Amino acid sequence: MASKTTIVLVTGASSGIGNACATHLAKRGYRVYGTCRNPSSYVKKADEFFEMIGMNATDDQSVAKAIAAILAAEGRIDAVVCNAGMGISGAVEDSDLEAIKLQMDTNFLGVVRVVKALLPSFRQAGSGRFIVMSSMAGVVGMPFQAFYSASKYALEGFIESLRYEVRSFGIGACLIEPGDFRTGFTAARRPSLPEGSPYADLYASAMGVQVRDETAGHDPMEVAKLVQSLIEARRLRTRYTVGPMFERLAVILKRILPAGAFELFYRMYYHLS
Ligand SMILES: NC(=O)c1ccc[n+]([C@@H]2O[C@H](COP(=O)([O-])OP(=O)(O)OC[C@H]3O[C@@H](n4cnc5c(N)ncnc54)[C@H](OP(=O)(O)O)[C@@H]3O)[C@@H](O)[C@H]2O)c1
Repeated sequence: MASKTTIVLVTGASSGIGNACATHLAKRGYRVYGTCRNPSSYVKKADEFFEMIGMNATDDQSVAKAIAAILAAEGRIDAVVCNAGMGISGAVEDSDLEAIKLQMDTNFLGVVRVVKALLPSFRQAGSGRFIVMSSMAGVVGMPFQAFYSASKYALEGFIESLRYEVRSFGIGACLIEPGDFRTGFTAARRPSLPEGSPYADLYASAMGVQVRDETAGHDPMEVAKLVQSLIEARRLRTRYTVGPMFERLAVILKRILPAGAFELFYRMYYHLS
């Protein structure tokens, strides 16, 4: 990228992975804009040298306004880390449509809104990078997180397709597939487990393992360092996995094992009969 100060937008910078990315990049000399839904109530830590602005990923106007404000102030954005996201959990049968719509609206359409708002300026500049936070759940369907997985699988297809369209305009796009990292994600998850659900025992088994793994996850700064390397890389591959070795191994196994063998391995891992 150019030697002038690189302008980076990080969505979902009030917590977890996005906060680590914004904090790390700002310390490394990037001019960083972070976003969250309530910037006025966000209290910055002493080592956070980035601007925080308001953006609700589910609101067309909010996304357009935030990006227009940065473009007006800086004249350009060089890279965006599309990171804002949340998760719902529960059996498919137990999940109501409003929660499912919120999941897709935040994690999938939220990224689509940002990408569409930035494409004209990236194309005019003949450069720009979309670094999109997918998940290992975008490679492996997670038990009792069907809609979270669906939202991340949607991103995988979206970015794969987008790369064909924008390459000749000098625009790069890639997916990061994190395993488990210790963030606010677990506490913010919205579960659906109605009283007397026939899935209660299976849900408890699968989510017990998932919450244990999330709690023991890696430091999100590992993702922030990867993001910096992707902003600085000459070329972007389509996808990058990051996180605990065992989880990165699971992604490799998913890609090489017969589907039935992988499913058996996952059923055993999550104590599902
Ligand atoms: N933690 C993991 O193990 C893990 C693994 C794989 C992938 N990921 C992905 O990494 C990304 C970041 O997650 P995290 O683990 O860092 O979670 P987190 O600590 O809960 O942070 C989520 C961030 O997203 C923002 N956000 C949530 N809903 C939003 C909305 N509607 N509009 C705008 N911003 C919104 C939150 O900001 P406000 O609530 O302040 O608005 C917050 O800054 C997500 O896309 C997640 O799917 C996480």
